[in-house]
Amino acid sequence: MTPNRLSEALAAHRAVGKPLLDLTVSNPTECGFEYDNSATLNALSNAAALSYEPNPRGLESARRAVAGYYADRKEHVSVEDIFLTTSTSEAYSYVFRTLCDPGDEVLIPSPSYPLFDFLADIQDVRLVRYPLLYDHGWQIDFHALEQAITPRARGIIVVHPNNPTGHFAKQADIARLNSICSTRDMAIIADEVFLDFPLEENRPASFAANRGAPTFTLSGLSKISGLPQMKAAWLIASGPQEWKREALARLEVIADTFLSVNTPVQLAIPKFLEQRHAFQEQVIRRARRNLAELDRQLASQKVCSRLAVEGGWYAVVRVPATRPTDDLAIELLKTKGISVHPGHFYELPAEGYLVVSLLIHESEFSRGAAGLLAAIV
Ligand SMILES: Cc1ncc(COP(=O)(O)O)c(C=O)c1O
Repeated sequence: MTPNRLSEALAAHRAVGKPLLDLTVSNPTECGFEYDNSATLNALSNAAALSYEPNPRGLESARRAVAGYYADRKEHVSVEDIFLTTSTSEAYSYVFRTLCDPGDEVLIPSPSYPLFDFLADIQDVRLVRYPLLYDHGWQIDFHALEQAITPRARGIIVVHPNNPTGHFAKQADIARLNSICSTRDMAIIADEVFLDFPLEENRPASFAANRGAPTFTLSGLSKISGLPQMKAAWLIASGPQEWKREALARLEVIADTFLSVNTPVQLAIPKFLEQRHAFQEQVIRRARRNLAELDRQLASQKVCSRLAVEGGWYAVVRVPATRPTDDLAIELLKTKGISVHPGHFYELPAEGYLVVSLLIHESEFSRGAAGLLAAIV
């Protein structure tokens, strides 16, 4: 509830109307991408929205479109295994409620996405960290992960690719997670909101059709189609038949209690999904260009570097750990009007890492990277 030093400095900066070069923006609707606005608005104007057909899983037409999205990726997902939710965050809360009693544990990667603490806290779930190691690329420390499992552990979250490290789970990781979870009555919870944004050539597989262990796969339109304002997401159950039958029955009770996704948005989901191609092409092109520009600027000095990134919307920049990263972020704001996230917001080591968004327009990103390096080098 208490603001940190950086958020106070940012509020003060904004209050006096000083210009801000914000390298943290991750709201795609603010990044100058071209959307088909009339298709988006027309999709919301459907006469079928004048009647109400409650269904705990969500309208079948929308779920068919979601199954079609996976079919395009050559993954078979049944419409009966899909539940629509208003956000991936809401899908997490359904999954936590399905798997956990108060005080049960879910493992999460560290570093990762800061919202997990809130999502778990609200559901009385305890989070247990498992470390990711960096050595020319990120990988799961499976030894530490297995050590972290207690009798109260109910699931392992995999963010595929992870935010902000940008690494994907590899086939060998999936096999190992399947083996760990299937032998211990635990579920894999795969967050695939950034799956469609590979920054290298390989196209990683989804967990949505994983049958080697109890699995929940979460995704949604906030990232896939760049439409966070529409509040449309889903979760999919897959795995051993017996487990899946019970999980679907429990999920049905939770989803039926809220029936949370509104009808106009459900009816528009097929059209919103169609828009993903144009959106993703723009994001991937921009993120790759921004990474290339960052590398070009980093090549002119030896003090800062960037960590390897395979996909997603963020890059991690290594800076000298000679002073607190919060002080550096505040100085960047005060002297250059540049906003960055200190890595420790994501549980990167306390000092020496900054996280920047790759969604920012190329010209601003280039100016921001130059300002950042000028302040440090
Ligand atoms: C890894 C990850 N999962 C989920 C979300 C949230 O997605 P939604 O808007 O569907 O709640 C985010 C948002 O930044 C994210 O980074």
